[in-house]
Amino acid sequence: MRKHIVAGNWKMNTLPAEGVELAKGVAAGCAAVPASVNLIVCPPFTHLSQVAEALKGSAIAVGAQNCAAEAKGAYTGEVAASMIAALGCKYVILGHSERRQYYGETSETLNKKMEQAYANDLTPIYCVGENLDEREAGKHFEVVKAQIEEVVYNLTAEQFAKLVIAYEPVWAIGTGKTATAEQAQEIHAYIRQVLAAKFGAAAAECPILYGGSCKPSNAAEIFAKEDVDGGLIGGAALKAEDFLAIGNGFAE
Ligand code: 13P
Repeated sequence: MRKHIVAGNWKMNTLPAEGVELAKGVAAGCAAVPASVNLIVCPPFTHLSQVAEALKGSAIAVGAQNCAAEAKGAYTGEVAASMIAALGCKYVILGHSERRQYYGETSETLNKKMEQAYANDLTPIYCVGENLDEREAGKHFEVVKAQIEEVVYNLTAEQFAKLVIAYEPVWAIGTGKTATAEQAQEIHAYIRQVLAAKFGAAAAECPILYGGSCKPSNAAEIFAKEDVDGGLIGGAALKAEDFLAIGNGFAE
């Protein structure tokens, strides 16, 4: 059985004290979420350390929202994967559409970031997804296929076994417009097929998360689909209660 994962991407939200409080709220309520669901929070870099400390001994894992493409050195303003790992983080979100769109992240950069993540024992949550124009032009399949081929296909079988994928249609992020459960299932199944073309049977084990306006009221329907293994949550992850309710979207 594939892992069920609900990960909160806090983006550029919360000051340190607020982040610690949010993390503690999630920890306090997580016993109500089925134990089979892996909960992850991804705070901003500034309080990764404090949140990791606050969650020590809990079942909740911590991830970063990005990492540098290089190992170390003269890269002003960057944060190395080794630094993230040293704080006890287990995950790193890579290739989020906001980073591709606003910070010009390309497959070339992402290949280097993936290498850094694996070299430091971080599990990448690799994001793919089309924008509205691409969806309307019926190009969503080819867009996610290219995002996978250009980066995920470069992984070894051993690396692939640790990978988490998040499908996040750009038109659904922060817009309140969610993909229907059917749309999510259709493209998740397609993504799995693209993964299987390279990695064979191992593709059946890769968790594929849905992201984009996922909330307590729609999570259960989306998570019930065969190829949806959880969610990458933005806005709704900023309230412990909503985040936990989404975690409860899995039928036990
Ligand atoms: P929202 O849940 O706010 O739409 O954001 C989704 C997302 O981008 C998570 O990475």
